[in-house]
Amino acid sequence: MAESVTITDNRNGESIEIPIVNGGVDAGDWKKLLGNTWFYDPGFTQTACTSSAITEIDGDAGILRYRGYPIEQLAESSTYLEVAYLLIYGELPNAEQFETWKHEITYHTFIHENVRKRFMEGFHYDAHPMGMLVSAFGALSTFYHEAKDIDDPEVRNKQIVRLVAKVPTLAACAHRFSVGQPFVYPDNTLDFASNFLSMMWKVAEPHYVPNPVLAHALDVLFILHADHEQNCGTAAMRVIGSSHPDPYSCCAGAAAALYGPRHGGANEAVIKMLNEIGSVDNVEAFVKGVKEGKGRLQGFGHRVYKNFDPRATIIKKIAYDVFEVTGKNPLLDIALKLEETALSDDYFISRKLYPNVDFYSGLIYQAMDFPIDTFTVLFAIPRVSGWLAHWKELLEQDQKIARPRQLYIGAEERNYVPMVSR
Ligand code: ACO
Repeated sequence: MAESVTITDNRNGESIEIPIVNGGVDAGDWKKLLGNTWFYDPGFTQTACTSSAITEIDGDAGILRYRGYPIEQLAESSTYLEVAYLLIYGELPNAEQFETWKHEITYHTFIHENVRKRFMEGFHYDAHPMGMLVSAFGALSTFYHEAKDIDDPEVRNKQIVRLVAKVPTLAACAHRFSVGQPFVYPDNTLDFASNFLSMMWKVAEPHYVPNPVLAHALDVLFILHADHEQNCGTAAMRVIGSSHPDPYSCCAGAAAALYGPRHGGANEAVIKMLNEIGSVDNVEAFVKGVKEGKGRLQGFGHRVYKNFDPRATIIKKIAYDVFEVTGKNPLLDIALKLEETALSDDYFISRKLYPNVDFYSGLIYQAMDFPIDTFTVLFAIPRVSGWLAHWKELLEQDQKIARPRQLYIGAEERNYVPMVSR
């Protein structure tokens, strides 16, 4: 059987055979036959915008792999910093490479005093931490002028290190400011997740040591959120990166895309939804409302997964480890009942709607005392490594500027009418 498709233009009978390569057909071949006929695909449901060697998802089989390694194995045996290295550089680091990487990240966690004092503290007291983070990424581009030299691999790498290292500091800074607490400087003796917890929660103790179960749970959550191929935020990173600005500006755009409730903002939306439901007894009525079109079941459904999201399965297990330390989140019973009800309902079965990564992550964050409006920030911290892996890959591929086409459906040419005559 030929691994190709044949397209015929019925207006003139001309045909072209296009090979299927890596599961796709080349739009360049299509163009040879149908140069001015555009694919109409709002939302890119059927369009591959790049080739990539970073993350593989098989949505029907519920498979997620980073650089070929199954997410389950990485969650079980690796650490976020090692995974970040893997995503960005393509291979697991050896002991020496990892020590260098860890050292570099650890010693770039500090942020310029002006970022903290003048920029972050300039926000209104009730600013959303995600809005602050989006802005902080943009602001960093004004501090590192050499970052514009994206053609120099060394300069590129320096910004990668800075961004991976500084995002927890910015995130914690946004939170501390919003609750009126003083900024906590990074503690270079702690690992990545523990240092973040220290910057979030340290009060007057000389050395903050987080509960190891909670620090480990957070590190696993960071692994699970580090990359997810061409999701909305990463696609934004690549689109912006294709016009060649510095990576800080690219991250600002990617973080803005992540902010929305249809994407990384869903973990926040899940908790609000569970609070609204309020009791296990109200679950059936709530699900009935969703089926009648009164809103969506937050944390359910995915563009790619038409089976269980493997990250959700791992997160559900971690939730129980966390609850052993923190006590059970009272919303858990509502979530479990909601999952059970939806998974046995034909509306959700026929549409292949399963819990996604955000369904249980919010419950863990809440049990660990993170305020709801920091949830998406917690998603952004590790996703920075995925964004940067894609940014680096994009530049190495020397990809063209992203510039889609449209199907124009507006008015025909018409003459300007002066205001008095309208
Ligand atoms: N609740 C109820 N119905 C849903 C849901 C949901 N959560 N998700 C999809 N559907 C329904 C749609 O109404 C549609 O039904 P129809 O065919 O009768 O019109 C059908 O399922 C297909 O939905 P689409 O919107 O076409 O799916 P799409 O791939 O565009 O959307 C998305 C994916 C945005 C994730 C969607 O499932 C959703 O809004 N989920 C809730 C928000 C959420 O959890 N987002 C986090 C995603 S994971 C992440 O970004 C990290």
